[in-house]
Amino acid sequence: MRRVRTRFAGLEVEFADRDVALRQAEEIAERGTRWPLVVYGPEGCGKTALLRQVEEVLRERGYAVIHVNPMAKRLEDRLLATRNVKDIVRGVVSALPGSLADASTLLYAAVEALHRAAKSVTGRIALLADDVFQAVGLDKAETLVKELLNMIEWPSVKYEKIVVIVSSSEGMTRERVGRHRWAELYVMWNMPRDGFAQLYGLLPGPKPSFDSAWRWAGGNPEMLERLYMRSWDVGRIVGSLAGEKGIVELVKGLSDTEDEILAEALEDPDVLVRRYREAEGLVRKLVDRNLIIRIWERDLNWVDQPPPERDPELGVGLYYAWQTPLHREAVRRALGQPP
Ligand SMILES: Nc1ncnc2c1ncn2[C@@H]1O[C@H](COP(=O)(O)OP(=O)(O)OP(=O)(O)O)[C@@H](O)[C@H]1O
Ligand SMILES: [Mg+2]
Repeated sequence: MRRVRTRFAGLEVEFADRDVALRQAEEIAERGTRWPLVVYGPEGCGKTALLRQVEEVLRERGYAVIHVNPMAKRLEDRLLATRNVKDIVRGVVSALPGSLADASTLLYAAVEALHRAAKSVTGRIALLADDVFQAVGLDKAETLVKELLNMIEWPSVKYEKIVVIVSSSEGMTRERVGRHRWAELYVMWNMPRDGFAQLYGLLPGPKPSFDSAWRWAGGNPEMLERLYMRSWDVGRIVGSLAGEKGIVELVKGLSDTEDEILAEALEDPDVLVRRYREAEGLVRKLVDRNLIIRIWERDLNWVDQPPPERDPELGVGLYYAWQTPLHREAVRRALGQPP
């Protein structure tokens, strides 16, 4: 399988590691998806990069693939298609009533083009939708997933196999989408140590030890990128994370009990389960701001490898995990605790 090229820390690199995920992608290509597959995971864990690699897996197996990316900065990156369906996409886009800047128009164009592709090009069609909930709003996520399911169940189109994958970093995805039987939810975690070491190895020096990079980024490639781009200045990164996520405001708004639970969660995020009755509101805020992630149904579906069972150093518990140690550190500082 060809590995795609991707941008990482200002370099052009080959898509690294994630071997388990790629085997999963091959299986999916073989059998298709019965329900839309919703992948969610920490911000910057590599969902977009993985979808681009999955596109390649599907392409090699004869699929017509359309990859929509409503949050992409450049308009031309928002609707990508494999070569076998490019002409159809062009035709659909030129007749569009709206602009590709609008997420629903984008999805409409993708679905319409795949519909036509199934009639005239290939019976294997795939839609990869990156960060669409962020674009349409999480309140519309359920409707959107239902529409994608309708696409799979299309009575009017004959196809051989269909694959529909949606990615999301919205913390509340699981609560909003996971309770329906319309989608199959998968959780993706940060990179395992070996894969992360490959990315670390690509960064020019001087750089701190690998152990130190691992302890701060916890396998998250975007955090590794940030560490490198900001000259490994942890203080600056933690400061900008605190600003982006409104951590100071969050902490100021807590009750004394929540404050105490949060301080304990720095050492052991599972306190959020042990004291759930008191911590319910706090958990919502932490999930909603993408600071922690709920991982307790460990026998559910994982993309690639699940996080280790409990890793106190990285802030991974059995039930909850800090998205990365840097996120935890930003909260620690807002609580005025020593590092
Ligand atoms: N397996 C990989 N090999 C090489 N580079 C990777 C890999 N995974 C991620 N990256 C790089 O790490 C950075 C973050 O990854 P990416 O943008 O895919 O994360 P994401 O989960 O989509 O983030 P967001 O939640 O912000 O959408 C990117 O620069 C990406 O190219
Ligand atoms: Mg992304």
